[in-house]
Amino acid sequence: MQTDPGGIPAHQPKERTVKVAVIGVGHVGLTTAACLAADGHEVVGLDDDEGRIDGLQAGQMPFFEPGLDELVAEQAAAGRLRFSHEPGEAIPGAEVAFICVGTPTRHDGSPDLSAVQRAAATVSTHADGPIVVAEKSTVPVRTGERIKQALALEAQAHGGASAHEVVSNPEFLREGTAVEDTLRPDRLVVGADSERAHAVMRRLWEPLLARHDCPYVATDVRTAELIKHASNAFLATKISFINSVARVCERAGADVETVADAMGHDPRIGRAFLNAGLGYGGSCFPKDVQAFLHIAGDLGYDFGLLRETERVNREARLWPVAQLRRLLWNLSDKTVAVLGVAFKPGTDDVRAAPALDVIEELSAEGAHVRIHDPVALPNVRDRFPEVTRAPDAESCLDGAHAVLLATEWDEYVALPPARIAELLEYPIVVDARNAWDTQALRAQGLTVARVGAPQVELLPGL
Ligand code: UGA
Repeated sequence: MQTDPGGIPAHQPKERTVKVAVIGVGHVGLTTAACLAADGHEVVGLDDDEGRIDGLQAGQMPFFEPGLDELVAEQAAAGRLRFSHEPGEAIPGAEVAFICVGTPTRHDGSPDLSAVQRAAATVSTHADGPIVVAEKSTVPVRTGERIKQALALEAQAHGGASAHEVVSNPEFLREGTAVEDTLRPDRLVVGADSERAHAVMRRLWEPLLARHDCPYVATDVRTAELIKHASNAFLATKISFINSVARVCERAGADVETVADAMGHDPRIGRAFLNAGLGYGGSCFPKDVQAFLHIAGDLGYDFGLLRETERVNREARLWPVAQLRRLLWNLSDKTVAVLGVAFKPGTDDVRAAPALDVIEELSAEGAHVRIHDPVALPNVRDRFPEVTRAPDAESCLDGAHAVLLATEWDEYVALPPARIAELLEYPIVVDARNAWDTQALRAQGLTVARVGAPQVELLPGL
């Protein structure tokens, strides 16, 4: 088989090609659709947001994700990837239909699965043969059974019986590296309750497995559903753990970075996700931790550890405001430059971004907040109409009484310390991501507060 320079097959033998419908072309759906097309499958992306589909048909991306625009354009040009808002165009003929719709959090912390049920009904209404319905949206354990019921009820309502199968095929992609994570995952997890469904999913992932060696975990539907929630909840807990260690380090006069590095040398622990800072945000961890806690409760188990994970995460967001209050004394009428609003670098996503809470708190205390982000500013226009949006990092800093590093974009990390010192009105730096070279900043006369480090004084000796 021919491969392109990235190791992706240029085409698939016809008999190995799977016809796929992807319902919901958000971050997960669009990335999954483009990557499956790149592996030679025939994919249609379906979404009831007509504007989004019109945009994609015209080559416009609905969000920023590095490398995805090129991949979508390439696969669309090759004829393997199409978009539609008509289920009648996307579902008939498909062997696999991925459900990639949103599962927002309801007031009680449980996920709202109405879009998942609607997607199942859509499949049932428009299928012209048995389809493997694959959950990709993160859903509570046993949702597969509800989808199966929904398919059966729809079929019954139309005087038939459902021959569709339901599988769980969770994704582990991260925003900002979604394409790479999907093309070269560290594992594939497929939960199915029949040999036939397993065989279809195996054929779907065969091209990926042929070019990329990774474990293929074949299991039952419930176990696959649980793997996803357990993975995200564990990573979130790891972050809250190191943030708690940071609080102890601050009080004890120790350094959390060195603690994390040394802990990370133990392969049983690992260094990844031990960066203390503002805590986790984004569209996944906050929602998934809450949902997992809720589901466990519904099943009769109080997963109190996750409640504590959430509490520590909320507390982590208060850290920079406390530092600024300590160093600036009164926040009213002080200008604070906030660098970064995205929940992490490499994305324009501001959902549950820690920076938003910080900006809100600073504004509530009367500070003049000035913000910058390389890509996410348009996404906070409505939320903070009164906050000044700077056109670049330097003008954000110019004349500010303090700077807060909230998202560790490379361009902020690369700012020369001398330039930071020159631009600021007062020499105050709060590095909430421990991303700057503290020694280099201090050499410029700047007072630098870091997470999980001994507390600094503004003018020692006074
Ligand atoms: C996360 C998981 O990493 C993916 O495996 C999963 O597929 C995805 O959720 C999902 O469920 O769809 P993502 O939300 O894109 O991916 O972001 P991460 O890179 O995991 O970061 C999450 C948050 O944790 C960010 O706010 C980040 O700043 C924070 N974080 C991460 C820390 O505070 N410290 C760390 O050491 C690592």
